[in-house]
Amino acid sequence: MAIQIDEKKNLFTLHTKHSTYQMMVGPYGVLLHLYYGAKTEGEDFSYLLHPADHGFSGNPHDTKGDRTFSLDVLPQEYSSLGTGDYRTPCLRAVWPNGACAADFRFESYERIAGKPALPGLPALYENKPGEAETLKIVCKDRVSSLRLCLLYSVFEETDSIARSCFIQNDTDSIVYLDAAYSCCLDFLQGDYELMNFYGRHTGERSVERAPLRHGKFVAESTRGASSHQQNPFGILCAPHTGEEAGECYGVSLLYSGSFLLSAEKDQFGQIRLVAGIHPDGFRWRLKPGETFQTPEAVLCYSGQGLEKLSQCYHRLYRKNLCRGEYREKRRPILINNWEATYFDFDEKKLEEIAKTAAALGVEMLVVDDGWFGKRDSDTSGLGDWTVNTSKLHGGLPALCARVNDLGMKLGIWFEPEMVSEDSDFYRTHPDWLLHIPGRPGIRSRDQLVLDLSREEVVHALFKAISGILSCAPLEYVKWDMNRHLTDVWSAALSPDQQGEVAHRYVLGVYSLLERLLSAFPHVLFEGCAGGGGRFDAGMLYYTPQIWCSDNTDAIDRILIQYGTSFGYPISSVGSHVSACPNHQTGRCTPLKTRATVAMSGAFGYELDLSKLDEEEKKQIQKQIQFYRENSNTILGGDYYRLTNPENGAALAAWQFVSEDGAQSLVNVVFLRPQSNAPAQYIKPRGLDPFSRYCVKAEQEPPFVLSGSALMHAGIKLAPLMGEYPAVQLVLKRVE
Ligand code: DGJ
Repeated sequence: MAIQIDEKKNLFTLHTKHSTYQMMVGPYGVLLHLYYGAKTEGEDFSYLLHPADHGFSGNPHDTKGDRTFSLDVLPQEYSSLGTGDYRTPCLRAVWPNGACAADFRFESYERIAGKPALPGLPALYENKPGEAETLKIVCKDRVSSLRLCLLYSVFEETDSIARSCFIQNDTDSIVYLDAAYSCCLDFLQGDYELMNFYGRHTGERSVERAPLRHGKFVAESTRGASSHQQNPFGILCAPHTGEEAGECYGVSLLYSGSFLLSAEKDQFGQIRLVAGIHPDGFRWRLKPGETFQTPEAVLCYSGQGLEKLSQCYHRLYRKNLCRGEYREKRRPILINNWEATYFDFDEKKLEEIAKTAAALGVEMLVVDDGWFGKRDSDTSGLGDWTVNTSKLHGGLPALCARVNDLGMKLGIWFEPEMVSEDSDFYRTHPDWLLHIPGRPGIRSRDQLVLDLSREEVVHALFKAISGILSCAPLEYVKWDMNRHLTDVWSAALSPDQQGEVAHRYVLGVYSLLERLLSAFPHVLFEGCAGGGGRFDAGMLYYTPQIWCSDNTDAIDRILIQYGTSFGYPISSVGSHVSACPNHQTGRCTPLKTRATVAMSGAFGYELDLSKLDEEEKKQIQKQIQFYRENSNTILGGDYYRLTNPENGAALAAWQFVSEDGAQSLVNVVFLRPQSNAPAQYIKPRGLDPFSRYCVKAEQEPPFVLSGSALMHAGIKLAPLMGEYPAVQLVLKRVE
């Protein structure tokens, strides 16, 4: 059983396949954290606690003079401001008299079969009974009836624990929550390093790893979206942890708004990791009888390095987070017209693109920005979700029919959350925006943000989008968001609720997506926010793939996809072959290299195919065929980062191994041309050492070697000339 409860010793122990998590109801009813790490059965870890009288660390009143009990020092399951704990508090509860305090003590627990859904929020789910088990622990404030309910859902097989909590106001007064994080993870000791994933528009999720020093490191977004700049995912690891060995812990927040992930090393070298909604600007009014549910955070532990940690997240998010028909199915190989035409298209151009693409084997045409309203540039038209029939004569039904006649599906772009001032929507509803009365407001990409905290706005968007999705058999939606939130103020909420707007906005986005998903279950939704500006596990609950970056340069993409792979499955990475020279960097890379990189994800093309010569078209046909043949391995297999492509590496190499282990794909891109270059040796992983594999590279004679030889001696790659050549090696088990 994943959850073990020892009532005599007041111990709660959670076991996954390879990890153990233990907490106890400690003295005075405080819920203390004892251990999280490698699996250890039958132990009572309370021996690790070190009660001592520490100067300047206060003692709660009910300890009656016990100076060795201080919440400033003890490891806790959920910290609260006002308890004498000066480390990062998870909860800031403010009372009507301005006092900020809550001191929670254990009240009861409940074991729940399965995994409960969270109201209005993304959450892991189980596919079959027994896959998950949940522990709910209820604590009550010592002097009031404010309750804290902590939820722990254990997914044994994937070594993960989903944590969240809700605060229940059973008092008879209002309580304001100025912070309510999702989880707290206290470590009694440890020289840990933190990996965070930072970036910028067109340069998302670069990897940074640094030892924790005394004080705090915070990865955060206050932008109203999880952002390009930091990602709500982090890894705490022991100093020598690498891909194949060492201990590491992942914290992944299922949330798409402003977030905070903080790692703190305290005066005694103890570590506290917290994650949740960013407290800046956040204040939730909790009336008597109301509850506030935090987003879910998913913890994973690996004692076998980063690769296992990533594989756990990949499997878990593929199977227990993403939903819908396309959850584990290969997505249609698409052609997107954005980098081919930008706003300058009509149905003739689109049909031309579709015709050429269909002949090459492409399965879906995606009409990007510009098909609606008066939208010939990014300065107007957003919000007017009616087809521009001067561009698409006959509208979407006619275009769809023609595209379907070519044997292709049709998909379409929306940016539902935004509006242009030059639009009928804005002229009709100028009050439906996030804006602060009396202040002019901030434009970004010449657009303003709709107030999705308001139900009527969400409803109007649902009507507009479902009207379009019902007018023709559209099978895909690209859901874009091209600016961040400013002027976060809603006309629909009272002054003391304005701190709720940013979170209510995210709940509005989720509720709109949820309604659309249930109304159009056959439509595949791809998330996007100027590329990967909202690439988070929250969005994956609604959109099983996300456009990874607006940067389509293959070499930059290697880095972006490398960083993304630490916390997110390959099947979720929207990735396209684009033109050369690349529109973002001006760099030229071979078509083969562009495809090698793009097919490490949900694959597509985004260029004017009519500009390609016959040789290139033949190559594309082969690429599509290759992707089809290998998509089970790529999308459903285990992923291995064979090299770190950052910091001037000579090679980027990554690998997929199919679930049954029978097939593998090794991709290599040479990053630096070298004269008089030595041979390169690549060591694949995850093979059966005792099986033999046939290794086949394009235009090379195949050869057979044992898994053991391949993994330990490696595969020899003759150095290739030219800029950024790529090699793809398919390994098939033959004996
Ligand atoms: C940003 C997206 O990331 C691009 O792919 C494209 O859809 C544009 N927006 C359209 O405005």
